[in-house]
Amino acid sequence: MFASRGRRLWIHAMIGREPRYHGRMATNEPPSPSSPAAAASPSAPPAPPVPRTFSPDEGFAKRLDELDPLRGLRDEFFIPTIKALHAADHAQSAHAAGGHAASPTASRPDGHGPCVYLTGNSLGCQPKGVRAAVDDELADWARLGVEGHVHGKHPWLHYHEMFREPLARIVGAKPGEVVAMNTLTVNLHLMMISFYRPTPKRYKILIEDSAFPSDSYAVISQAAFHRFNPSMTVLRMVPRDGEHTLRTEDVLAIIEREGPEIALVLLGGVNYLTGQFMDMPRITAAARAAGCVVGWDLAHAVGNVPLRLHDIEADFAVWCSYKYLNAGPGAVAGAFVHEKHADRADLPRLAGWWGNDPATRFAMHPNFTPRHGADGWQLSNPPILSLTPLKVSLDLFDRAGGMSALRRKSELLTAYLQRMIDFVLQEVGGAGSGSAGGGSTLLEVITPRDPSQRGCQLSMLIRKDARAFNERLKAAGVICDFREPNIIRAAPVPLYNSFHDVWRFAMILRDHLRSA
Ligand SMILES: Cc1ncc(COP(=O)(O)O)c(C=O)c1O
Repeated sequence: MFASRGRRLWIHAMIGREPRYHGRMATNEPPSPSSPAAAASPSAPPAPPVPRTFSPDEGFAKRLDELDPLRGLRDEFFIPTIKALHAADHAQSAHAAGGHAASPTASRPDGHGPCVYLTGNSLGCQPKGVRAAVDDELADWARLGVEGHVHGKHPWLHYHEMFREPLARIVGAKPGEVVAMNTLTVNLHLMMISFYRPTPKRYKILIEDSAFPSDSYAVISQAAFHRFNPSMTVLRMVPRDGEHTLRTEDVLAIIEREGPEIALVLLGGVNYLTGQFMDMPRITAAARAAGCVVGWDLAHAVGNVPLRLHDIEADFAVWCSYKYLNAGPGAVAGAFVHEKHADRADLPRLAGWWGNDPATRFAMHPNFTPRHGADGWQLSNPPILSLTPLKVSLDLFDRAGGMSALRRKSELLTAYLQRMIDFVLQEVGGAGSGSAGGGSTLLEVITPRDPSQRGCQLSMLIRKDARAFNERLKAAGVICDFREPNIIRAAPVPLYNSFHDVWRFAMILRDHLRSA
């Protein structure tokens, strides 16, 4: 327990206040009771009675878990055990040492229990229902062969259509505006083929300097594809000196200044490195007013923060499904195309038979007739076995009560994480958080403190040996993830992480900061 036990530890915390959103929540709720899909989607559980005070004691974490109306969902997921992770590490080091590495588990606590899994922002945990659901499809394939397309339990011919409504609820879209297909970077290129239409006067692409490398490669290669010099074409926004995240006012100022030359604004809804949740409505509105096309990379936003893609009038968005959507490694990704583009014949697009109007798909004509809406950007018939886990996971989002219920817990969970880190830094540094104490100079949370400017992730800048620091956390049973050169990201996910997970993380963090 904390060294300062006995002194007053209970403080007033901001964790009891209401969540704030960027603007109004619109279409990303579960269906109303009168809608056809309502039977599968119970309405949101009531908000938890949140304590107004905060304590770093273990009992407080347990109490928050008891009060959590979503706590039962954790049982729907496999959380990796410490033992399994250590065994995997041991096998790897034994292999590297020619089969002679000592067992790392020998000196460690019993690891049969779950690890502290705080990396759902990298790969979400496996929903327990996945195996049975994939088995169903395998059984139909074995039993029916090609007839499974029509006579399977979930006929494969229409399989991808099952994803429209649940995905639309999560990203705040109309069902015809979303499609599950391909992978994120592939979708980004497909969208840019249609929506990045540079002219000699308007050709620039605005991104964050800390955009995920794949996005950076994608925009650079698109610029070159259109025979523009990438270094003159791609504008990269950096935070102000001494700051880690972008200020909305600065983004808006850049859009206003450079707008006439910007063809495409392409930003991460939640930045992968800093965890900053951009003010999507204001940025989209400003970019549109400046005549730019607006696309969003939602890899770290989908299933994490409330989104309103339709209402804010984003032109397109793309996301992956292996992070907060828990659909497994390399899972089938998603794309949004605003309905105003649903039937635009003037947009160039790369075509494939699954994007063709189903009424003529099997007429085997050589000419492409695009299907209405986002479906018209599909290329191939979908990989059923890879889509199945996504269906299982999306059902759990509906069971949770949709994004607003998850967001309520998420804000609380991450605020608790922030508070626990504050306490740890106070303990270890011997002074206030952010002061020159040992722990607080070694570790700094760079994610915005304002809950409306972040999702569940907190990014910690580690000033010394960050990679080794992360390895030590892992050895102690905490799985975060490390990003070069010095960031450790911790993301408590409301679907399956508990307050007690966060408490365990904080205790391990404290021990490591003390010995660092
Ligand atoms: C923000 C962001 N964009 C793009 C990607 C690339 O995704 P994919 O490999 O699925 O194309 C990732 C992967 O983690 C990401 O985090």
